[in-house]
Amino acid sequence: MRRQDMVVDRLDKMPPLDTRRRSYLRLAEPSDGPLIHRLRSDPKLSRFLNAPPTTVQQQIAWLTRYKEDEATGQQYYFILVSDFKDRGTVRMYDFRTIDDKLSFCWGSWIIEPPPIVGLATYSALAIYELGFDNLGFEHAHFDVRRANSSVVAFHLRAGAEIVREDNQDYYFHFTREAYHRFRTAQAGTYDRHATITPNPNEGLAQTDR
Ligand SMILES: CC(C)(COP(=O)(O)OP(=O)(O)OC[C@H]1O[C@@H](n2cnc3c(N)ncnc32)[C@H](O)[C@@H]1OP(=O)(O)O)[C@@H](O)C(=O)NCCC(=O)NCCS
Repeated sequence: MRRQDMVVDRLDKMPPLDTRRRSYLRLAEPSDGPLIHRLRSDPKLSRFLNAPPTTVQQQIAWLTRYKEDEATGQQYYFILVSDFKDRGTVRMYDFRTIDDKLSFCWGSWIIEPPPIVGLATYSALAIYELGFDNLGFEHAHFDVRRANSSVVAFHLRAGAEIVREDNQDYYFHFTREAYHRFRTAQAGTYDRHATITPNPNEGLAQTDR
């Protein structure tokens, strides 16, 4: 796959970014700095994450630099939206070849309480859909803190394999075949969140007239 196949002007058109879905991904903007800073500063949510930028201004500056990587197709940082509200974040980065397959890493995965049934599973499916079905990746990789036991369990249930470990982390590989099995097993959850919802603003204009 050519790098230019993955650049941003096409990304907006891809199904996981379809704003008509009940739950969708949208590209993060510097104006999301306060939201991302809040999520990454929450002691519960950030326990197993790398240290956040310490101020909102630093987070905004980080996002401004990130937009250059986005424009050149090197990483994509998403806000997860569900039921018309920003709910969390997820990021694709470190695009490289593993076992002769083009692989993407994903992480920065945060969903703010209160929990929404199926949203964690759907957000993983949406990243895999984008990577495998829309961007042409053939493989995925990611690392998870060993102590983050519910996330480790999530990935093992989804069909990921631990290929390496050190004192702090497990390193996972996830194949396209595993994605297809996971998507089939979670078809109900996928459908519940990928469903097209009516826009509540449509019709308002008519009422106003
Ligand atoms: C990572 C994160 C987004 C995952 O979201 P979550 O809601 O906690 O995900 P869970 O693992 O609890 O649940 C995922 C699903 O698996 C289900 N599940 C949990 N344990 C299960 C089990 N043993 N068997 C079957 N299903 C199980 C849950 O019920 C849930 O179902 P749902 O999607 O229908 O609601 C969230 O925990 C978070 O923001 N954590 C802080 C940041 C973080 O650590 N990120 C990861 C960095 S690698």
